[in-house]
Parts: sequence; structure tokens; C-alpha cells
Amino acid sequence: MAGIRFQPEDSDASQMSRQVAAIDLISDDDRSVAADSWSIKSDYGSTLDDEQRHVDAAEALSAASFRASSDYNSDKDESDSDAVPSMLGFQSYWDATYADELVNFREHGHTGEVWFGADVMEKVASWTKNLCLEMSQSHLPDHSNTNHLTAGQSEKDLSTWSVLDVGTGNGLLLQELAKQGFSDLSGTDYSEGAIDLARRLADRDGFTNIKFLVDDILETKLDQKFQLVTDKGTLDAIGLHPDGHIKRMLYWDSVSGIVAAGGLLVITSCNSTKDELIQEVEAFNQRKSCASQEPNNIADQNTGKDPPRFQYIDHIRSYPTFTFGGSVGSRVATVAFLRN
Ligand SMILES: C[S@@+](CC[C@H](N)C(=O)[O-])C[C@H]1O[C@@H](n2cnc3c(N)ncnc32)[C@H](O)[C@@H]1O
Repeated sequence: MAGIRFQPEDSDASQMSRQVAAIDLISDDDRSVAADSWSIKSDYGSTLDDEQRHVDAAEALSAASFRASSDYNSDKDESDSDAVPSMLGFQSYWDATYADELVNFREHGHTGEVWFGADVMEKVASWTKNLCLEMSQSHLPDHSNTNHLTAGQSEKDLSTWSVLDVGTGNGLLLQELAKQGFSDLSGTDYSEGAIDLARRLADRDGFTNIKFLVDDILETKLDQKFQLVTDKGTLDAIGLHPDGHIKRMLYWDSVSGIVAAGGLLVITSCNSTKDELIQEVEAFNQRKSCASQEPNNIADQNTGKDPPRFQYIDHIRSYPTFTFGGSVGSRVATVAFLRN
């Protein structure tokens, strides 16, 4: 498989991504299911204020799996394989969504959905920055305070981190990471419309150094590794496909190939708790270690290299809860894993 690298703005990929068409791969019946499961799309940018849309969006992604909201710190009996599939697991859904969002951007200048809300996005970005700074200075995460780092030192340290946001959508998390001081920033999404929107927003907002590329994380063509890989809502969406359980396994295989050794993976999810994500990572580690010990796996044994593994490092400890329709809605978990 030929690998690809991020190209400058006017690459073929960039031009292709501008020719966005809402490819209708799903039936009208399916569409009405999607509309029910994410009703805010019809009112998008019109009657709902921003805060309400954030609440609705998080609710929609979580409700799509029809799972009870739960404390992100708690252990649960349910496994991820219990998630009920939804339209949010299909690329056709996202293509149609971003086609709508591009129209809203052109006509009204709207940025599109901020998944889990602006507060969560800002918290993820600032918490990730502090974690990276501590890692740069070879400290273990300090949960109390990182303000002792000087501004100049921070900028220098952050400039060495190459960052990839998988399933970047409108790319706003990357803009937020840029505001925190990261400068080597890239985003991928399998929907051309998402990448088109992300590029337009980055250009409009003056973040022209952020690179964007159409890429499916489950069949990635990237041939470079990144010190920091972020995912906000992408693994959630992947898990909502009817083959979500298998696709989540493919996700870990794929992601382990693009996080550099010693690098970080930071996942933000509203469908998995912190503990579920850790369990999923442990299952991945075990699969890899079993595979490397199989007698016919000469390649791994000859190189003497350890198979890729992820290790839990830290998670965001305080998140607001959302109240929707009179009941407490989705909560979010953000967990960081270190790649060996
Ligand atoms: C819930 S949205 C989150 C978007 C963005 N990360 C954010 O926080 O605003 C899920 C995103 O994952 C993307 N996505 C889903 N499956 C993907 C895959 N296999 N490869 C790349 N992107 C994917 C969708 O197109 C969509 O943009």
C-alpha cells in the first residue's frame, strides 16, 4: 500500500475535496431514521442557540447507541459490543451532514457542530497541552498544577510535537490546539466535505498552517507517525456501525501504526467510559502480544521489537454534565494513552 504525506493546500486531494457532492447512498427510510436520531440537523443554525446545539449534539451521539448515560469514572457491566448501530456509523451519513454544513457555512458563516460543546473542546486542548509539556520535560503527569512552566519554554517544547486529529470534522479542535501553542498540526477525515469545511474555516480564522487530508483511519494511507494523535468523537462514530465491534479493533490496529513510539493518543468519547477505553486498550495489547508469539510470526520475532502497546497515562478528572429535557444527559471521558 502506497503511503501518502500531507501536501500543501492546493494539492489534488485539496481540489478533490472542494468538489463536494452530497452522494446519496442511503434510502429515504434510512434518512428519516438519521433525522430522528439527530434531529438538530433540520433546525441547524436557525432556531437553536449554540449552547442548546452542543447539548443536542452530545445527546445525539450518545443516544444513537441507546445506552444509559453513565459516570465516566464508573465501571460498567455493559461492553461496547452492546452499542446499537446507528446512521452515525456510516460515511454516507457524514457526507450528507457535511454537505449541509458547507451550505450553512457559505450562507451564514456557521462553523458547524462543536461536538460535546466548546467547553469540552477548550478543556481537551488545554489539558493536552499541559500533559505534553510535562512529557516533554520528562515529568509524570502532575494533577495539581503546571503553571510553573515559562511561556517561552512552553512554545519551544510544543513546537516539537507533531499532532494529528483523526476524524477532525470541522477541524476546530486543531484550531484550539494551535491557540494553545502547538504548531505542527494535521487533520484527517474520511468525508471530503469535512475536510473542505475544515480548510475553509482554518483559512477564514487565520490558521493557514494546519494541514488537512481526506483519509479513512481504518484504511489509512498515512506513512508518517505523529507524537500526538487526538480523537474527539471519531471512535464513538466508528463503533456505531453495524460492524462496530470489528471496526473498533481495526481502529486500534491502525492508530497504533500512526502514533510514534513514546507518543500520545488522547481520546475523547461520550459512548465509552474511561474504564471501558482502558479495557479496550488492554484487549488490544493482549491481541498484539499473542499475535507476536505465534510460531508463524517470524517477522516480529526476527526484528526483536516489542509489538505496539498502549499504556494508560491520565484522564480529565472534572467534566461538566449536560442536562437535556429535564434529565442528566451525556458525559464525556478524555483519556490519554502512551504508545511504547
Ligand atoms: C462525532 S464527529 C466528530 C468530529 C470532530 N472530531 C469534532 O470533535 O468535532 C465524528 C467524525 O468522525 C469522522 N469519521 C468517522 N469514521 C471515520 C473513519 N473511519 N475515518 C476517518 N474519519 C471518520 C466523521 O466523518 C466525523 O467527522
